[in-house]
Amino acid sequence: MAPGKSRPIATPIHNLRPARETCEECHWPEKFYDRKYVVRKHYIADEENSEWDIHLLMKTSPQYRALGLQEGIHWHINSNVKINYATVNSKRDTIVWVKYTNLKTGEELVFSDDSIPVTQKQLDTLQIRTIDCLDCHNRPSHKFESPIVFFDDAMTAGRLPQDLPDLKIAAMDILDEDYPTMDSAFKAIETGINEYYEFMYEEIYDTNKAAIENAISVIEHDYQQNVFPYMKTKWNTHLNHLGHLESNGCYRCHNDRFKSQNGKKISRECTLCHYIKAQGPPDNKEYANGKVALEFVHPVDIKGKWKRIFCSECHDNLYE
Ligand code: HEC
Ligand code: HEC
Ligand code: HEC
Ligand code: HEC
Ligand code: HEC
Repeated sequence: MAPGKSRPIATPIHNLRPARETCEECHWPEKFYDRKYVVRKHYIADEENSEWDIHLLMKTSPQYRALGLQEGIHWHINSNVKINYATVNSKRDTIVWVKYTNLKTGEELVFSDDSIPVTQKQLDTLQIRTIDCLDCHNRPSHKFESPIVFFDDAMTAGRLPQDLPDLKIAAMDILDEDYPTMDSAFKAIETGINEYYEFMYEEIYDTNKAAIENAISVIEHDYQQNVFPYMKTKWNTHLNHLGHLESNGCYRCHNDRFKSQNGKKISRECTLCHYIKAQGPPDNKEYANGKVALEFVHPVDIKGKWKRIFCSECHDNLYE
């Protein structure tokens, strides 16, 4: 099929100009970005649409700008650091081999994952890439958020009412289905939400129709901004590599399985990339002070499973 005709458009686009040339027309790699404080509000699919906040200090850089790009996330674009990797598919979501080269000292480290061994012969047939901006910022402007995220953002912005009971449950039930057209999606949202309240909350349905109608139109609007049935495009057809919640992202390498011959591993340590500085419901948050980071508390009880399995094993499809 001609490239312009494929739906969804296959990404990554392989003949783009190298990111280093494009991005670096405006962002030069030596630029130092201070650590960034990121605050996220989430809403649990329960009767109260209960809020759960997470504050993260992203370790984009070292703590002091005098240290340049010696450590932290943007160590990856330190001009002395070169990381090559091999993937088995064109989406670059399964990485099988990683090589780090220190361009100053010539030191090399090759990391492999025992659970997906590759021979030199296989490696010769695979595409080898060098990490650049786009391997992490692969969706710098086109954000197709998942229903969970665009729902939470609408509630955070006050566009969806937190006091409409079960709203997230009702919405997620409808939005995790695939619809062939925008019309059929809109129809499903409208009948689904109406029927939910008519059946579960008759009194609210009778007395608060305006709030329900408004919620329907906000959900439809945001759906249209994030899901494109005609282009067969949505958050999970174009995975975002910047993180590790809904897809593996950083965990494609940082999974504790990639080891070098001298026993180093590409770490999944929770404090490598960020410090959790606060978490919990808004009126009862746990805060860390000074240099300390909190141990992650999962918003609903999953018996500590987040320590053993990757977030995306549940979060790539939370409501099915
Ligand atoms: C024509 C100039 C230009 C080009 C080319 C460009 N950017 Fe930007 N970018 C900007 C400006 C201006 C900002 C906003 C100021 C800032 O945050 O530095 C920005 C912001 C950003 C941010 C921060 C956004 C946020 O939410 O914090 C990221 C990440 C980013 N750009 C990545 C990229 C990547 C990756 C490329 C290459 C694919 C790229 N940019 C190419 C000008 C550009
Ligand atoms: C292609 C593989 C690969 C991917 C993808 C990747 N990394 Fe790395 N990362 C590495 C390797 C290799 C090292 C060096 C490991 C070592 O020598 O200890 C590293 C080191 C780091 C370090 C430690 C740097 C220091 O010394 O302070 C941070 C922080 C980091 N990565 C953040 C990230 C983040 C955030 C993402 C996702 C947005 C990511 N990495 C994606 C391969 C990768
Ligand atoms: C190893 C993954 C990785 C690579 C490679 C990478 N970045 Fe980033 N970058 C991140 C992460 C993670 C953040 C923090 C993002 C957040 O949480 O919002 C970030 C933050 C940024 C920001 C926002 C800084 C701020 O504080 O507002 C800009 C701009 C940016 N990166 C540009 C670039 C450019 C340009 C390149 C290539 C020269 C690049 N990045 C390479 C992972 C990476
Ligand atoms: C290799 C780097 C790296 C490692 C290791 C890592 N994270 Fe993250 N984490 C990220 C990035 C990048 C983001 C995305 C930040 C953003 O969206 O701006 C993130 C986001 C998060 C979030 C916020 C999710 C949200 O949407 O609110 C939580 C919570 C989190 N990480 C917990 C953990 C836990 C727990 C561990 C250890 C099991 C861990 N992280 C290990 C890089 C990492
Ligand atoms: C065993 C499955 C499982 C694993 C593993 C898991 N989660 Fe979850 N997560 C859930 C469930 C179930 C919910 C509740 C969804 C709801 O009620 O809305 C949830 C909810 C969340 C929320 C609130 C989401 C929202 O609705 O806005 C965040 C944030 C979150 N998890 C982060 C993480 C992070 C970070 C990891 C990995 C370190 C992780 N989870 C691993 C099952 C899991």
